[in-house]
Amino acid sequence: MIEELPITDWTGPFDAALKQRAVTALESGAVLSFPALPFLVREDERAFLDARVSDGKSKNISLDPATGKLQATSLTGDKAQRLGAMIERFGAGAAGLMSALLPYRNVERARTSFRPVQVKGRSYSKISDDRLLHVDAFPTRPMHGRRILRFFANVAPAGSPDGGLRRWQVGEPFEDFARAFLPRLRPHLPGQSWLYGKLGVTRGQRSRYDEMMLSLHDAGKLDDAFQKNSPQQAVSFAPGTCWMVFTDQVLHAALGGEFALEQTFHFDIDQMADPARAPLKVLERLSGRELV
Ligand SMILES: [Fe+2]
Repeated sequence: MIEELPITDWTGPFDAALKQRAVTALESGAVLSFPALPFLVREDERAFLDARVSDGKSKNISLDPATGKLQATSLTGDKAQRLGAMIERFGAGAAGLMSALLPYRNVERARTSFRPVQVKGRSYSKISDDRLLHVDAFPTRPMHGRRILRFFANVAPAGSPDGGLRRWQVGEPFEDFARAFLPRLRPHLPGQSWLYGKLGVTRGQRSRYDEMMLSLHDAGKLDDAFQKNSPQQAVSFAPGTCWMVFTDQVLHAALGGEFALEQTFHFDIDQMADPARAPLKVLERLSGRELV
């Protein structure tokens, strides 16, 4: 469930055996962890490790790498610019590591986020509560089968509560989860995805794959018995470490921790070493129909 890679630098080159190990583990639903790969927050950036840099409304501060636009921070002017530069340094590092370690090409670098607020103690509706096991699916951003790969760094400073650990639960394999929930998913409503696209609720139209993934996300979170009794394992990520996981495939819940950075990547399933392991292909096989 956890594959530890002993790498210590962000750029490689990495040897072929290590690269093979990384892609095989990742695609089979493991969390790749990098216990000896810290993301270094510089002395003059330490002040950003403070929940007050958030605007208090969103969980995450996000940076759009295409425009350089920073969202949901309370900081302005020079401070906002320096926070943006730190997040960008992380995102660029993550993108470099990704291309040196993994075979995926035509990768879209999506938003980079900084998560400065403690996970524990926040309150949400069940659907938006990421302390419950779920696979990622975006209500407004249809994926049409494209993958969601996320790279995280724990940058909690020394002396943080709970040793600064970022605590996750990781659940059963995607196929087991999907098979159990498939009969209970929301029915496909003809015209709905067209309407949502037309109204601007979604960026473009949702495919049946997107509808199914959202429905899986919601049904899993709303099922108390599943949350309590399904096979799962506690995993914790220490400060000064990084990890990477297909969050559209691996059931995960973030239970505690603060001060993480995260970079999201998207790419087509034909880039995978084994596309049959993509959630799209698993759902098509289980449902017996084409979904995009
Ligand atoms: Fe998630």
